[in-house]
Parts: sequence; structure tokens; C-alpha cells
Amino acid sequence: MAELQLVVVAVLFSIASFLLGCNGQLTETFYSSSCPNVSTVVRNIVEQAQQNDVRTGAKLIRLHFHDCFVDGCDGSILLDNANGIESEKDANPNRDSADGFGVVDDIKTALENVCPGVVSCADILALASQISVTLGGGPSWEVPVGRRDSRTANREGANSELPSPFETLDNITSMFSAKGLDSTDLVALSGAHTFGRAKCRSFSQRLYNFSSTGNPDPSIDSAYLDTLRQTCPQGGSDATLANLDPSTPNDFDNNYFTNLQSNRGLLQTDQELFSTSGADTVAIVNRFGNSQAEFFTAFVQSMIKMGNISPLTGSNGEIRADCKRVN
Ligand code: HEM
Ligand SMILES: *[C@@H]1O[C@H](CO)[C@@H](O)[C@H](O)[C@H]1NC(C)=O
Ligand SMILES: *[C@@H]1O[C@H](CO)[C@@H](O)[C@H](O)[C@H]1NC(C)=O
Ligand SMILES: *[C@@H]1O[C@H](CO)[C@@H](O)[C@H](O)[C@H]1NC(C)=O
Repeated sequence: MAELQLVVVAVLFSIASFLLGCNGQLTETFYSSSCPNVSTVVRNIVEQAQQNDVRTGAKLIRLHFHDCFVDGCDGSILLDNANGIESEKDANPNRDSADGFGVVDDIKTALENVCPGVVSCADILALASQISVTLGGGPSWEVPVGRRDSRTANREGANSELPSPFETLDNITSMFSAKGLDSTDLVALSGAHTFGRAKCRSFSQRLYNFSSTGNPDPSIDSAYLDTLRQTCPQGGSDATLANLDPSTPNDFDNNYFTNLQSNRGLLQTDQELFSTSGADTVAIVNRFGNSQAEFFTAFVQSMIKMGNISPLTGSNGEIRADCKRVN
């Protein structure tokens, strides 16, 4: 009797999870029979690329973020201009800034060799992000997969839904909230600025004439201000690069948060998380600055949440053969 009940429960459970699967649930085991080696293939290519360009991992995780915030995690950012496609690559937050597309193409080529037509470009971005974080010394986690690729791009959305580094904390908070992400997610995900670079144009107004005051942003540490002014002199190139994390530029650790605690955040939107008085983000920065373990745990949760923004699943979208164009 008890046995029969167990069987009934098990059957109901598998029907339920099957239905959930059809309803757009991503799973960690999606490719376990169709492309069992997918993680190894992605890891090998990212590792190789990282040897030539230490910024590779930073570029890839940023692509995933910029993909997910525009019509969901559907690989739309990867599409080139074409008939009916206004590429998101030409939107303000991405133009002359988003990079790593060549690595994505190399991953796609390698995957098409071992399991043709199976792994989506949207999933490649999610998997490559996890591997990039792990290679940088950050946490490892099982990535929910099963996304499919869009047949459209949304340049307009990329211009309006991706945050600029000059936003107020209120604005950033509402842009994240519009994607189902709360203040803890905002702070944890901003921790991706623990590696990678930004151009002078993304922060130099803080150094000389902040909000038209004629003075620098009062929330910058003065020694750090001097260093940044040397990197980005007035009248110098807007394209010169600075480390987002001045203390450990290429490592995935919690120093992004300890930097904020000592007024060494590079972007206005970074420092605001800590320097906006009364904001709920201040305590979260302190928590992550005081415990790398807490940061890592929260970061993984928030990455999974971000990766779940409106994926295409089931029979929606397609599996692109080439990430740059629709089939
Ligand atoms: C909170 C709102 C955010 C704003 C305003 C923002 C803004 C920026 C800006 C302006 C840059 C430099 C671009 C340039 O100068 O060319 C940048 C770089 C970067 N962002 Fe963000 N970002 C935000 C959140 C995120 C999130 C959620 C992630 C990932 C989870 C992320 C990952 C990165 C990485 C890794 C880089 C360095 C990329 C490279 O070296 O090429 N950012 N971000
Ligand atoms: C997985 O791929 C790697 C190379 O990327 C290869 O060395 C390994 O043998 C593959 N494993 C399987 C089970 O195919
Ligand atoms: C904040 O958002 C509002 C409404 O979208 C926008 O008009 C304003 O320019 C934004 N502020 C900044 C500093 O970007
Ligand atoms: C700062 O910027 C404002 C507006 O762009 C301008 O009117 C002012 O002259 C600038 N001040 C300095 C000291 O450059």
C-alpha cells in the first residue's frame, strides 16, 4: 500500500516536472544526454582565450548581463546588423565597449563540431560566465540551461534598459527591479566589477566637473582621485582603460566591496551603492566587504536569477547555427 502511494507520488512528480520543463523552466541537466561534454568544451575555449587576453572572462560575463536585460537571456546581443535586425551591438552601452564576440563564435564552432544544432548561443553566454568567474578565483556553480535563441534584436531596448554609469541609485534600483532583481541582487551582481576595465569616458566627469559643480565627486578617496587623474588627464583620450577593481584587477574576489568601503569605486554607480546615505545597499556592501563567502553565495543566487530573465524555451526561438545571424 505504502509502496503504491510512493509510485503514484513519483509518477505525479515526474509529470509535474515534465510540464514545468515545457513551461520554460531551465534545468542543470538539459544537455546531459544531447551534449554531455558541453561544459568541458566551453571551459577549454575560455581558458585558451584567457591566456591571450586576461579580460576575456570580464567581457563574457558582461555580454551575458547585456543579453539578459534586453528581452531576456535570448542571445539577442550577439546578432549582427542584417535585414530586419538592428544590432544591439550598436546601442550606446555596447558600441565600442561590449566585446568577447569572437570567443563566443569560437565556442559555438567547437560545439557545432561535437553536438551540432544543440546548444544555444544564449546558453553559451550563461555557461561562459560561470567558467569566467571560476577561472578568476570566484565560486563555481551548476548553470541552469535550456534557453533558446531569439530571431530578433532590440536596439531600442538596449539603449533604454541597460543602465548607464551616470544613473542615480534610485534609477539603477528601478531598472533592476523591472527585471525582478532586488537590492541584494543589484549589489551582488555589481560585484562583477571585481574584474575588467572601463574607459575614461565612463567615469572622467567624476574627476574634474562632477554634476557641473566644477569640482570632483566628493565621494572619491583623494589618493585614488590623483591616480585616476593621471590615467585620464583632461583633454586626454576617452578610450584609455582603468581597472574597475584597483586592488586586484583580474581576480574575482570581494575587493570590489572593500574598495567601495574606502571610496575607491571607479564608476559613479559603483560608489553610490555605498555612499548614498540611508540607502539599503550600504549594509549589503558592508556584508559582502566583510565576508567573501557571503558575497560568493549571494552572487551565485543572483546570477541564476539574472539568467532566468524571460528565456525562450520549448519550441520558441531557435538554436542558431551561427551566433551572429538567425538561421
Ligand atoms: C549596476 C549597473 C551597472 C552599470 C551602470 C554598469 C556599467 C558598466 C560600464 C560603464 C562599464 C565600462 C564600459 C566601458 O567603459 O567601455 C562596465 C564594465 C563591466 N561590467 Fe558593468 N555595469 C553594471 C552592472 C554590471 C553587471 C550586473 C555585470 C555582470 C554581472 C557587469 C559586468 C561588467 C564587467 C565584467 C565589466 C568589464 C568588462 C571589460 O573589461 O570589458 N556590470 N560596466
Ligand atoms: C570532452 O571534450 C574534451 C576536449 O574539449 C575531450 O578531451 C574529452 O575527451 C571529451 N570527453 C568526452 C566524453 O567526449
Ligand atoms: C533617471 O530615470 C529617469 C526616468 O527614466 C530619466 O529621465 C533620468 O534621466 C534618469 N537619470 C539619470 C541621472 O540618468
Ligand atoms: C562644469 O560644467 C558646466 C556644465 O557643463 C560648465 O558650465 C562649467 O563651466 C564647468 N566648470 C568647469 C570648472 O569646467
